[in-house]
Amino acid sequence: MTRIARREASQEEAARQKEIIGRLGKRLEGQELTYHLSTFGCQMNFHDSEKLRGILEEIGYRESADETKADFVLYNTCAVRENAEQKVFGKIGFLKNVKRSRPHMLLALCGCMMQQEGVVQTLKRSHRHIDLVFGTHNLYRLAELLEARMDSDSPIYDIWDSHQEIVEDLPTRRTDRHKASVNIMYGCNNFCTYCIVPYVRGRERSRNPEEILEEIRHLAADGVVEVMLLGQNVNSYGRGLPGHTNFARLLEEIEKVEGIRRIRFMTSHPKDLSEDLIRVLGASSKICPQLHLPFQSGSSRILERMNRGYTKESYLELIRKMKAAVPELALTTDIIVGFPGETEEDFLHTLDVVDQVGYDLAYTFLYSKRTGTPAASMGEQVEEEVAKERFNRLLALCNRQAYDKSAAHVGKVFEVLVEAVNDRENGILSGRLANNHLVHFSGAPAEGFLDRAVGTFLQVKVTGAKSFYLTGEAI
Ligand code: 5AD
Ligand code: SF4
Repeated sequence: MTRIARREASQEEAARQKEIIGRLGKRLEGQELTYHLSTFGCQMNFHDSEKLRGILEEIGYRESADETKADFVLYNTCAVRENAEQKVFGKIGFLKNVKRSRPHMLLALCGCMMQQEGVVQTLKRSHRHIDLVFGTHNLYRLAELLEARMDSDSPIYDIWDSHQEIVEDLPTRRTDRHKASVNIMYGCNNFCTYCIVPYVRGRERSRNPEEILEEIRHLAADGVVEVMLLGQNVNSYGRGLPGHTNFARLLEEIEKVEGIRRIRFMTSHPKDLSEDLIRVLGASSKICPQLHLPFQSGSSRILERMNRGYTKESYLELIRKMKAAVPELALTTDIIVGFPGETEEDFLHTLDVVDQVGYDLAYTFLYSKRTGTPAASMGEQVEEEVAKERFNRLLALCNRQAYDKSAAHVGKVFEVLVEAVNDRENGILSGRLANNHLVHFSGAPAEGFLDRAVGTFLQVKVTGAKSFYLTGEAI
């Protein structure tokens, strides 16, 4: 299909879904139904959940925090590590009991975990109380699937292998009034050997720049001042699109949107981070001085086995260039410990990278074997005890470093976007610095008017530091 034809098809599909949403809304009118939605995993999943919420609320469902009392319970699942899957299976068992006393309730599962054949087989065989199962490629069809389940006596399973058509333009319920996530691409082509994502999210597909810009202009008109651009590998944005668009050019265009004051993005892959992008980051006043750049392992030998496409040295060189272009840059990363074949020497390289770079925050993971990925069948799986011991050493270093990074803010004044009234402490607001550090602070507008500060920018003097947040006073 040509680009234009594809866009028309996707708009037609969006219109069809809106019609179903309207029809279902009429059918359920007056019933005062509630839904409960729990999300596991990454920002991409949380953003998908905003879309699911939008659809459900447009139908007329109201959100409920209590999954034992809701009429419709939906879990948006993650497949990246085994423990996230175990949590979902725990919930499935728990809901079986709840449903016994409330047989009218509908239970649904969606997201990455459902894209795995084995999981769906288990559900079909052993968990027939789950009414609706769908995947990552067809979540925009929630209303249609819900309607089909209401008209059927048995569970519905609808999983697609992949889908080229990107259907946007459906109702969304943003979590924050002033911040929004925007998908710029879907899927991943990198096939890092430990990772299940390319199998459950499909091949890389970039959205058209015009559509992305249109969405961001709408968001800005609706009061959004900060956007988070989402993709599994934003640095390869634009591949496969006609013309010469790339991520750096897209950022330059987004920068021109009036009303948007902060631009963030994730996730970046070191192998695709271009000189062009470094130049744009260095020159920009809106792109936040913050970069999430997972390195996974500090050992070039392990990086090769992971199929990451860079070495320890080239990663460190990239960091050096980034720091030179953006001196106040805050860096965050993902690290895996215990990848098959990792020796003590390999692990020491990981500690060395952390030591040399200095991360504001590091997300550390024990390697988790994912069936179907190349690493799952590699020999030399690391013993659990050994991996845990390494993990603890890494965590201690990262926590120390996070504290040092926080402490370096004390005594200085920063511009803060106020995000919330703190619900634990009276008179305290919470917000973020441009570099994404979280700050809880006092001394904002007179009490009772705190709400009005949310979404505004204030100058805050940082007076205290913990590993994962700062404290301060508005000035
Ligand atoms: N085991 C442990 N961590 C993993 N990640 C991805 N796959 C696995 C796995 N099999 C981590 C990577 C990635 C982050 C989102 O999750 O560090 O960057
Ligand atoms: Fe997984 Fe690698 Fe793709 Fe990230 S870049 S989603 S780690 S395969």
